[in-house]
Amino acid sequence: MTNAELIARDIAHVIHPLHNTRAQQSARVWVKGEGALLTDADGNEFIDGLAGLWNVLVGHGRRELAEAARAQCETLAYASAYTGSSNEPAIELAERLAAMTYRSINRFFFTCGGGEATDSSIKMSRAYWKLRGKPDKTKVISRIEGYHGVTLAAMSATGLSAYWPQFEPRVPGFLHIPSPYPYRYEAPADVSQGLAAANELEQAILREGADTVAMFLAEPVQGAGGVIVPQDDYFSRIRAICDQYDVLLVADEVITAFGRTGTLFALDHWGIEPDIVQFAKAITSGYVPFGGIGISDTLASALDDGGVWMHAYTYSAHPVGCAVALRNLQIIKDEDLPGQCRDKGDWLIGALRAALGDHPHVGDIRGMGLMCAVELVADRSTKESFPPGDKVGPRVQQEATDRGLFSRVKADTYLLAPPAVITDDQLNRTVEIVADSVRAVLG
Ligand SMILES: Cc1ncc(COP(=O)(O)O)c(C=O)c1O
Repeated sequence: MTNAELIARDIAHVIHPLHNTRAQQSARVWVKGEGALLTDADGNEFIDGLAGLWNVLVGHGRRELAEAARAQCETLAYASAYTGSSNEPAIELAERLAAMTYRSINRFFFTCGGGEATDSSIKMSRAYWKLRGKPDKTKVISRIEGYHGVTLAAMSATGLSAYWPQFEPRVPGFLHIPSPYPYRYEAPADVSQGLAAANELEQAILREGADTVAMFLAEPVQGAGGVIVPQDDYFSRIRAICDQYDVLLVADEVITAFGRTGTLFALDHWGIEPDIVQFAKAITSGYVPFGGIGISDTLASALDDGGVWMHAYTYSAHPVGCAVALRNLQIIKDEDLPGQCRDKGDWLIGALRAALGDHPHVGDIRGMGLMCAVELVADRSTKESFPPGDKVGPRVQQEATDRGLFSRVKADTYLLAPPAVITDDQLNRTVEIVADSVRAVLG
């Protein structure tokens, strides 16, 4: 069947994430993936510029992962993991993660994805403070431009306001502070941008009352918000504020975990440990839905002393998910994918700067590891954005798709996070296509 025939059937019956029937008319139906390439139903090949949705770290078509899933399905496809049961892949995965993650994080709860990980860390934090005799510590502070998923609680933590209006009212007790956003955050003259942005957290805690705040939720490098890399002094100040006011620091590493930024976990760049880490996406490279949270020894001992933690999913610690995660983590180690992300990311950002750094409408080219973005602006000197109605970002995205690069935009910021196994030729072609597409729209 052709792409057009399949799309006609799709539109009749499938409701999509961020569903938009009109936009779906020009959708691609993907039929095959190999390495960093995707093929549509008409046989056209595209570079997968965002590794699916930032998740396909090891690349498409990995037979090792298919084999791990098949072997586990044949042995034990499913068993409950509610208290009273467990399974070997879950035990082995938790052990492996304890050895890989932050030193103080050694206990894990597994989910089917990132949004469930956000809900789980919110419920873990609130339960922790109740166990510690501080039942009023329930509020969640996160950041404008932050993305944490779209369950009702995760959506309330997400700081991209376009996700809210259709579903108001949001869950009470969630508030947002500005992101560090080096390109746009305006700090007072006497303090560094990173410290000023971190101090926004202290001000919010003092406004709300420290005895009402449970946790601060932050992506180490913000992804969907436009690849925002914080200043080097940001997270150490955040850690100090959280310690001072007894607020749990929750790192949402759903995109950054397992190598994307050049280290296994992104807060390692700044020598900081969170109280809870959230992961999903690259833990199985998207081959099966999976995610989870890891909690610090302090939280774990409270959990051990408490009664039942009334939180559960049928598919927690799913044996097939755990088996695929284990094999995927082995590939990440064997092929040094964090190192590949670091080296290829450095090259990609350098090449994008060489190709587009002087363009009058390229405001900022930024990133960390193999996670980067090109922000387009109406006026480079004032950083003024284009009017949203000009749809500059979507037009550049369409030009790139027409040239064989498939990725996403956040407003007028073009996002790139290809699989870590992308080849040098494919990286070269990515840069060419981004540059040509920007020039096609903006001269
Ligand atoms: C940082 C972050 N947290 C949470 C999520 C939500 O994950 P999911 O879509 O698997 O629910 C995402 C998804 O993109 C994400 O980027």
